[in-house]
Amino acid sequence: MSVQIFEAARLEAQKRLDEARPHKERNRLGQFATPPSLARAIMEETARMLPSRSKVRVLDPAFGTGAFYTATLEALGQARLEGVRGVEVDDEVVRVARSLWSHLPLELTHGDFSRLELPHFEAPRADLVVCNPPYVRHHHLSKEDKARLRQEVIDRTGVVLSGLSGFYAYFLLLADAWWAADGLGVWLLPGEYLEVNYGRAVKRYLSTRTTIVRVHRFDPDDCQFDGVLVSSTVLWIRKSPPSARHKVRFTSGNDISAPEHDFRVPQRKLDPDEKWTRHFTQVEVVDDKVPRLGDLFTIRRGMATGANPFFILKRQEALEKGLPSECLTPVLPSPRHLKVDCVEGDADGHPVLDEPLVLVDCRQSPEVVESKWPALWAYFEQGAAQGLPERYLCSRREPWYTQERRDPPPLVCTYMGRSKDGKAFRFIRNRSQALATNAYLMLYPKGLLAVRLQEDPGWIDVVWEHLSQLDAASMLNQGRAYGGGLRKMEPKELRQVPVPWFETQTEKKKG
Ligand SMILES: C[S@@+](CC[C@H](N)C(=O)[O-])C[C@H]1O[C@@H](n2cnc3c(N)ncnc32)[C@H](O)[C@@H]1O
Repeated sequence: MSVQIFEAARLEAQKRLDEARPHKERNRLGQFATPPSLARAIMEETARMLPSRSKVRVLDPAFGTGAFYTATLEALGQARLEGVRGVEVDDEVVRVARSLWSHLPLELTHGDFSRLELPHFEAPRADLVVCNPPYVRHHHLSKEDKARLRQEVIDRTGVVLSGLSGFYAYFLLLADAWWAADGLGVWLLPGEYLEVNYGRAVKRYLSTRTTIVRVHRFDPDDCQFDGVLVSSTVLWIRKSPPSARHKVRFTSGNDISAPEHDFRVPQRKLDPDEKWTRHFTQVEVVDDKVPRLGDLFTIRRGMATGANPFFILKRQEALEKGLPSECLTPVLPSPRHLKVDCVEGDADGHPVLDEPLVLVDCRQSPEVVESKWPALWAYFEQGAAQGLPERYLCSRREPWYTQERRDPPPLVCTYMGRSKDGKAFRFIRNRSQALATNAYLMLYPKGLLAVRLQEDPGWIDVVWEHLSQLDAASMLNQGRAYGGGLRKMEPKELRQVPVPWFETQTEKKKG
């Protein structure tokens, strides 16, 4: 069977698994499969780092249905694989993966990788560990699990991980014992460990015990995983202490093989107590210690529906048309029609506004819509008669009427405005479950701010107040001016706005 035909079957099986589980349950086990194009790009780069023609023993400790196995076959070819081992905790996923891969060698262990007995000390370890570990935040780990994982990591590596570490950090360190000396490790990780305090122990382990070959960060605006808001990085490490002259490549951009930025930093200069994210940016800003908005928030453009007048309706009107409420997501009105700067939500999460709007958002197939919701089907037929399925954005979606998956942002900033008193942009606090269109930029707390909000969720209002008072000059320095005083702020520009008060506030709170 060709790899392509096999891969189509695997993706179909993955889709069925994903659809059969609620998002919340997938979150619990970090079940977000690597998109095949991403797995392929990672493995193509990985292949270049392996000695040519050498045979490799591969281990994927969070196997899923095997996105990386397919990509490894494509990049290295089956003849170079000495053995492939996978570990997967989920019974159903194991059952599906075993049946999918029955035609090729695979030793798939059904179990929790963190509890697996280590191989005999003389047994060969993996020359290539490749892993997209489950991304489970620390507060979803029980106290007992945390204590067990922490001790296990100490026993195996001597590293003491912070209690705020996500499950992926334990995975990375536990894999050390399965990894051959001089072997290569490839890890798809959320970028937070590079900047937050609790990433220090991980950074210390990486910088002293491994040779960090390359760290690649994707554009934070371009989320690699549908429905998950984490910035993605790929880490390539070798299990050998670094040579004194070794330089780490810090690359960024959306194409791993042609990064937008490519910097080399001597590994001996990497300080685990500093934010490594600074190495992705220009040398000039490396010494700039003032936090920027992009350090506190993932900033993304609001949703592009492809046809606002069709997809966005007054809630009342949508209900009168008989559209099913499960396909109606609250959405903010355009900034021009939004008179308040704080949007409250009702018990159902709809904004408390005179005429709340909804976004028609349906993920069901046309067959299901037609039989289950005739009124919605009639509405989509009207859209089809207007030629919407052929429009650029709609034509790239399957089915054409689905919308991008986004979470409601707690804060938004207007994308465009005219400068009055030097102020062109508004920050709006969103206490409802409404999404926002691309007339706004959406701000999702990350890094230190996200940690801070876990302890004190109300603090988002303090941050909002500061943002509302942001010095006009620093905002306008970043935004772009157009004729007639019109200003636009792109996500990249908003990320650069300095927020010096953030550190002061954090220090005050600590004190
Ligand atoms: C992020 S997904 C990656 C799956 C696959 N390798 C890919 O790249 O598409 C993480 C996988 O790890 C599995 N998993 C979660 N906890 C695990 C554990 N403790 N031990 C082994 N597998 C685990 C999940 O069920 C899920 O299939």
